[in-house]
Amino acid sequence: MHLITLDSQTDFEGWRTAARSLVLHEVKPTDVTWIVRGDESELFAPAAEALPLETPLGTFQATFNVSAKFVELAQSAILHRDPERFAMLYRLLWRLRGHHHLLEVATDPDVALLTVMAKAVRRDEHKMHAFVRFREVGREQKAHYVAWFEPEHHIVELAAPFFARRFADMPWSILTPDACAHWDGHAVSITPGVGKAEAPTEDRLEETWRRYYASIFNPARLKVKAMQSEMPKKYWRNLPEASLIKPLIAGAERLTGAMIANAATEPHKSQKRPEPSMKHETSGDIATLREEAADCRACPLWKDATQTVFGEGPPHARIMLVGEQPGDKEDLAGKPFVGPAGQMLDRALQEAGIDRTKVYVTNAVKHFKFVPRGKIRLHQKPATPEIKACRQWYERELAAIKPALVVAMGATAAQSVFGKITPINKNRGQLIELEHGIQALVTVHPSYLLRLPDPDARALEYQRFVDDLRIVAAMLKKHAA
Ligand code: URA
Repeated sequence: MHLITLDSQTDFEGWRTAARSLVLHEVKPTDVTWIVRGDESELFAPAAEALPLETPLGTFQATFNVSAKFVELAQSAILHRDPERFAMLYRLLWRLRGHHHLLEVATDPDVALLTVMAKAVRRDEHKMHAFVRFREVGREQKAHYVAWFEPEHHIVELAAPFFARRFADMPWSILTPDACAHWDGHAVSITPGVGKAEAPTEDRLEETWRRYYASIFNPARLKVKAMQSEMPKKYWRNLPEASLIKPLIAGAERLTGAMIANAATEPHKSQKRPEPSMKHETSGDIATLREEAADCRACPLWKDATQTVFGEGPPHARIMLVGEQPGDKEDLAGKPFVGPAGQMLDRALQEAGIDRTKVYVTNAVKHFKFVPRGKIRLHQKPATPEIKACRQWYERELAAIKPALVVAMGATAAQSVFGKITPINKNRGQLIELEHGIQALVTVHPSYLLRLPDPDARALEYQRFVDDLRIVAAMLKKHAA
């Protein structure tokens, strides 16, 4: 039996060096025990045999290689909390020598386990990006920002660079039971984990978070289940806004109840459009796409954004609205069009007689692109390579939703919808055929209206925008009939 002691729970380099040497010495996976320094048990010591970690020279096997895909998955999976992960990875490495395409066999139990572990780690990383809340300790020049978080896996070192980029100009510490990350404005350092008692609980930032959360909460779009799966209850206790969740949900339910009670008493028209036969499968498709997109690395925008902001709306919506990319508020909330442009859009939709809850709303680019300016994140227009890299998600959303009409709002959306640069003014306000009987309508982006300095021009352009949306409303009516 060979005993391999890794330096830490996240020691990928140690695992890689040992695994390579073990393979080259022909040591079978069943003959290896993996442990982490500090977890050593007396039990292993007598039977264990040390292995020279250098590569045996002159052997022809010394040249074996593994794919970049395996390395990438292994780097994520090694951060999983399952103590069996080191052994599972070595078993796979061992088997990959004789079966180069093994990773493509999704039903293989080791491959399936590797995939599940890597995915769980990436999901945990996203949750940490989205749910860490800093609290201020000290004031003004001496302020330091401290957060408490309990990750499921060993992801503190993985997630720390994101916070260093995002909060570059404030000194912070993220405390967790496994490890703590600290940023002094120059470098990230990692120290051992601590107990929750070390983390602060209340400060003056709490109220800011609570106000922000209440401002983006829209009762008309409340989906408790989806909300809880995005923000699982275990994270609530560290979120200042958590105290608002229950009252806001209860308030939304009261509001909805009142709306139903006050609704017109006309008999409901019979549903003309047949229910899709595979309703769950199709809605599952969008849910699966959303999950896949959460890990999208097709362009570099994911690095600085909080999360992927995927489309939202009924999985069989007749209308699909496409915007440019999430802004600051959308990036934090994980929902499209909840900031100022979203409010402008909501107002225009209402004026045109369109119920937003019946429309699928998405963006051409699904990560926020910005440059930091002090504490502010300044929106940057996405570049063509980013639009192209993200287009796969728009195409897959389109295939899953199968809307009758796609509305491209602004130049970036038009570029994504038509697959090429498409001038707005030349194409605006007319129905254009896409493939598969889907039609498209081009109009301006709501934030264009927000940027117009002249109030008269703004009012005029707003009316033109509403007029374009009236074409959409007419189409919806035609379909309903
Ligand atoms: N602008 C967009 O294009 N999309 C959003 O979601 C918000 C602002």
